[in-house]
Amino acid sequence: MAESKSLTPPHVLIFPFPIQGHINSMLKLAEILCISGINVTFVNTQQNHSRLLTLGNVQSRFSRFPGFGFETVPDGLSDDQHHSSGFTSHQDFVKDGIHRMHNVTRPAFRELLISDRFKLDARGQVSCIITDGMSGFAIDVAQELEIPSISFRTVSACCIWVYLCFPKLVENGDMPFKVEDMDRLVRSVPEMGSFLRCRDLPSFFRPTEANHPGLDFINRETSHSMRATAHMVNTFDDIEAPILAQMRSYWPNLYAIGPLNALLNAMRSSTTTKVSSSLPVSSNASLYAEDRSCMTWLDKQPEKSVVYVSFGSIAMVTPEQWVEIWYGLVNSSHRFLWVRRPDWILAKDGQESQIQAELVEATKERGYMVNWAPQEEVLNHPAVGGFFTHSGWNSTLESMVAGVPMVCWPHLGDQQVNSRYVSEVWKIGMDMKDDCNRLTVEKLIREMMGAKREELMKSAVKVAEMARKSVSHDGSSYRNYEALLEFIRKSR
Ligand code: UDX
Repeated sequence: MAESKSLTPPHVLIFPFPIQGHINSMLKLAEILCISGINVTFVNTQQNHSRLLTLGNVQSRFSRFPGFGFETVPDGLSDDQHHSSGFTSHQDFVKDGIHRMHNVTRPAFRELLISDRFKLDARGQVSCIITDGMSGFAIDVAQELEIPSISFRTVSACCIWVYLCFPKLVENGDMPFKVEDMDRLVRSVPEMGSFLRCRDLPSFFRPTEANHPGLDFINRETSHSMRATAHMVNTFDDIEAPILAQMRSYWPNLYAIGPLNALLNAMRSSTTTKVSSSLPVSSNASLYAEDRSCMTWLDKQPEKSVVYVSFGSIAMVTPEQWVEIWYGLVNSSHRFLWVRRPDWILAKDGQESQIQAELVEATKERGYMVNWAPQEEVLNHPAVGGFFTHSGWNSTLESMVAGVPMVCWPHLGDQQVNSRYVSEVWKIGMDMKDDCNRLTVEKLIREMMGAKREELMKSAVKVAEMARKSVSHDGSSYRNYEALLEFIRKSR
């Protein structure tokens, strides 16, 4: 009996926060663990799961791993509610998500784990839970069942560090701050005192968000995460080593194993000889239907001539911002591929017809628009020369790995901190924070593709090289991943 237990690989349960950016990185982690021979159960909310099965290629991606399986829990939404459309702001969307996670998903998750569901599973009982750092209740369930838990905060280390320093910010009088203090330096976050302004703090810290539950939620989850047995982050030493060192004083068992997209690619290529059956080239886990016609369009464009424009899966814009961006892109005279999710504009029906015909005509000349693109493939296409992004952490890492410079227009949460690091620390892009004006858009796009290109590319190439090196066999992230595997194996 003891022998058969030791022969069975560990069984890890992975539980993402149920939004696109989090599911993407958690599914990458799931595939990486499967390649290492670990059994994995991935828990989705029911709505996301049916969208993933319909739109993503997750079945073919995971069918070669007999130790992989999905489970689902409800999220409390009816069928017509699971897009963000219908909300009056992205804050509303976040507020709603937090509320539903607490009231519906939390009890269902506990029920799944304490039920007999895994007792007769050929993969054995769950031996370790990897939960999203924004779903800390899974740590309580792990503790109740005496299972080790790993908290995976899917955002950048620099943002997590600011969250961890929140009590210090209050103690030192940096928080709360007034709107007129936005450009004041924040002195009480170690490692960031010389460049972090109030404006660069996570959006929930702003006085304009004072009544939003986001800050309470983030603080609660951050202090909750202390109870996890270990922590992991999707970053790498070369870009965030000083921050990671600081974080270890709070989270001693911290594994930095990113960029996960690069680690996954490295692991896939190292197993291609062993697993000869068709390996998927894409990491697609989209909750939206990908329009691949943009790849054919890109094939026809000159090298490094196209600006890829995408603001992730939850950012929403006002009709005015939408028009400013559109004018800025058109006036920049550069080619652009623009992802405009069907649910991203806070607009009334018929708004589009008000847009001047000249914009539509100019777009036909040198632009292309889709509802959703295969982003990683786009960023690695030879025609793409720049990324106009909202600075979501996955997008930032994907751009880093592809060596593509950025213009950053952050919307919420961690994106404010990320964009400051992109421009001031890593110097691989420019920050357009809090300024959505057609002249600014035009100017920054022109600079990224022209006057500042050489300077930005120098850093972008260096960062891409460091990212690739970190996931190679003697790289820091690869070594940290091996240590994480050891932790998981010992957890049984
Ligand atoms: C959210 C937060 O906003 C982000 O800041 C946080 O770091 C993770 O959760 P999101 O806003 O969607 O995520 O941004 P991001 O992290 O960039 O994730 C978007 C993902 O969707 C990326 O992996 C990107 O490749 C993918 N994507 C986006 C597509 O595949 N196609 C698209 O057209 C657009």
